[in-house]
Amino acid sequence: MKQKVIQIRMKEYERLEELTEMQVNLVNRAIESAGNAYAPYSGYHVGAAVLLANGKIVTGNNQENAAYPSGLCAERVAIFYAGSQYPDVPVSSIAIAAIRDGTIQEEPVSPCGGCRQVLCEKEFLGATPIEVILYGNRRIQVIQQATDLLPLPFILRKGD
Ligand code: THU
Repeated sequence: MKQKVIQIRMKEYERLEELTEMQVNLVNRAIESAGNAYAPYSGYHVGAAVLLANGKIVTGNNQENAAYPSGLCAERVAIFYAGSQYPDVPVSSIAIAAIRDGTIQEEPVSPCGGCRQVLCEKEFLGATPIEVILYGNRRIQVIQQATDLLPLPFILRKGD
């Protein structure tokens, strides 16, 4: 038996100005997109902005439904939209932010397990790390790659 330890690194910033121009741009696009979420049931408006390796930015927000499980998170809306529009282009970065009662959340928004799984597959497909930027007014967390958020993801490799 071997005991293994999995560690992750994360950068934490106090202010948006500490980030790069592109990271700030992505955060602002995520906040803007959160404003267009359809979230009448939870009142929790999430926005995601995805930077592609070709420099394009696509955004998405959560889309809820009266049949609750039919809704979809902002991250998956954005990632699936990116895949539908630019099927072969890797994703380089994603920023996530949320608004509740008209106010941007104080603490960073961390993606749910299903979105982590989707991010990991995208990362694997693109063979490029996907930087994950979690925005909160109080702190901003930057994770170097999606698989850091989901160690041991389910990946179906050819020949398995
Ligand atoms: N939600 C997201 O869009 N992204 C997350 O990372 C967490 C949760 C959505 C799902 C649902 O519409 C609402 O937020 C409340 O859970």
